[in-house]
Amino acid sequence: MVELVKPALEHLPSYKAALERGWSPDNVRLMEATREQLAAIEKDPTAFLADLDDPDAEGGPITLPDGTRVPRLPGFRRWIWDGEVAGSIGLRWQRGTAELPPHVLGHIGYAVVPWKRRRGYATEAVRLMLGEARALGLPFVEITAKPGNLASQKVVLANGRRLVGRFFEDAAYGGAESLRYRIDLYRLPTIRQRPAEVASCFGATPRYARQARPPRRPAWLWRQPPAGCDSHNRH
Ligand SMILES: CC(C)(COP(=O)(O)OP(=O)(O)OC[C@H]1O[C@@H](n2cnc3c(N)ncnc32)[C@H](O)[C@@H]1OP(=O)(O)O)[C@@H](O)C(=O)NCCC(=O)NCCS
Repeated sequence: MVELVKPALEHLPSYKAALERGWSPDNVRLMEATREQLAAIEKDPTAFLADLDDPDAEGGPITLPDGTRVPRLPGFRRWIWDGEVAGSIGLRWQRGTAELPPHVLGHIGYAVVPWKRRRGYATEAVRLMLGEARALGLPFVEITAKPGNLASQKVVLANGRRLVGRFFEDAAYGGAESLRYRIDLYRLPTIRQRPAEVASCFGATPRYARQARPPRRPAWLWRQPPAGCDSHNRH
């Protein structure tokens, strides 16, 4: 069985062992990130773990592959766990909108250790992370994948994606062509199923919504109707 765990001291030896075997949880910075993480674990394991769970974006800026430093977005990382660390998956977002800045390649990024691939772990990890994104109130998540990364495309496909289109990655990543997928988190709601969500999308609070349970979307996240609600409800 595979699950997502919040990185904690009890998982750290297994994570460190995976890094020492040459795996990188960072699909862009690869071994540079592995070396940095091993050094950070050595220096202060608790601070390293805290940095992986930062829903309030309290940590310092992020360094992009070209050395540019950008403000950190709210986000957190979970480890894919089957009794030992099998991979890593992260979710990041901006407050008040489902959109992302151009230098952020998708809401969700993931990597599975090479010796545990093709067991369905990434597919299941994304499925579990979609639950977390839904709980935050995001109407959709975007995932990007290189045209040649068939494995990643299949992972997104298995999770109900639609292709938004091709785009060129931000110059900080080298400007290569990539694919952007979107996974809708709220299907066309019916009044019986999701009255509060209908209300929040249309900026209204009809009587049926007032009578319903409060939406799971926390108030701080959406100060205005979420981007994407509109097209969403016209399917
Ligand atoms: C992409 C990645 C996360 C997939 O992890 P995984 O746990 O092996 O994925 P799954 O087992 O859930 O497989 C998903 C599908 O991809 C297929 N697949 C896996 N590896 C593949 C490969 N090398 N080539 C083609 N298809 C592959 C699987 O057969 C499965 O297809 P199916 O649904 O038709 O059976 C993993 O290969 C990886 O970590 N790659 C490097 C990092 C990366 O590319 N991350 C994604 C960035 S967007």
